[in-house]
Amino acid sequence: MASTWRGIRDSVIVLVETGSHWSDTTFPAGTDASGDIFGGWVLSQMDIAAGTTAAQRAKGRSATVAINEMRFHAPVHVGDLFTVNTHIVKTGKTSMAIHVESWVKRQRTSERLMVTEADFTFVAIEASGVKRALPPI
Ligand SMILES: CC(C)(COP(=O)(O)OP(=O)(O)OC[C@H]1O[C@@H](n2cnc3c(N)ncnc32)[C@H](O)[C@@H]1OP(=O)(O)O)[C@@H](O)C(=O)NCCC(=O)NCCS
Repeated sequence: MASTWRGIRDSVIVLVETGSHWSDTTFPAGTDASGDIFGGWVLSQMDIAAGTTAAQRAKGRSATVAINEMRFHAPVHVGDLFTVNTHIVKTGKTSMAIHVESWVKRQRTSERLMVTEADFTFVAIEASGVKRALPPI
């Protein structure tokens, strides 16, 4: 799958893969008091991934209007390979419902498991921020 370097942020190198997911090795920046990856960082990666999918479907700008059923099933440990998967489950006139899951591959055991999931809603918007109808696929 083709990929592009998205940049370096807080010592975390993010590799964006075209399509609906990307992987990222987690480093100590952004850990919580227990030494696991901060939940807010995980949520932001999910929002960025869903936003990438929404922008592709909307063929342009879109905005997050809702995040529902956010579930944290297991912690993300430093060193895990972190991946976000997105799936558009429904579209309306202007909106897109996107189910988002994040998965890890544990560094030491190579075990793969889903660590979070949530249902995001994005709305296609004009450059001015006003909602717009989704274009045909
Ligand atoms: C996006 C925005 C322009 C939409 O304008 P709006 O007048 O609220 O639009 P509507 O209430 O008509 O909703 C638009 C669509 O979103 C859906 N929607 C709105 N709120 C929703 C919610 N909480 N859950 C699910 N769907 C929702 C509506 O059902 C509608 O879908 P449809 O057009 O496919 O039928 C406006 O809400 C906005 O600017 N929000 C802030 C976005 C933002 O800044 N996000 C980043 C946060 S940091």
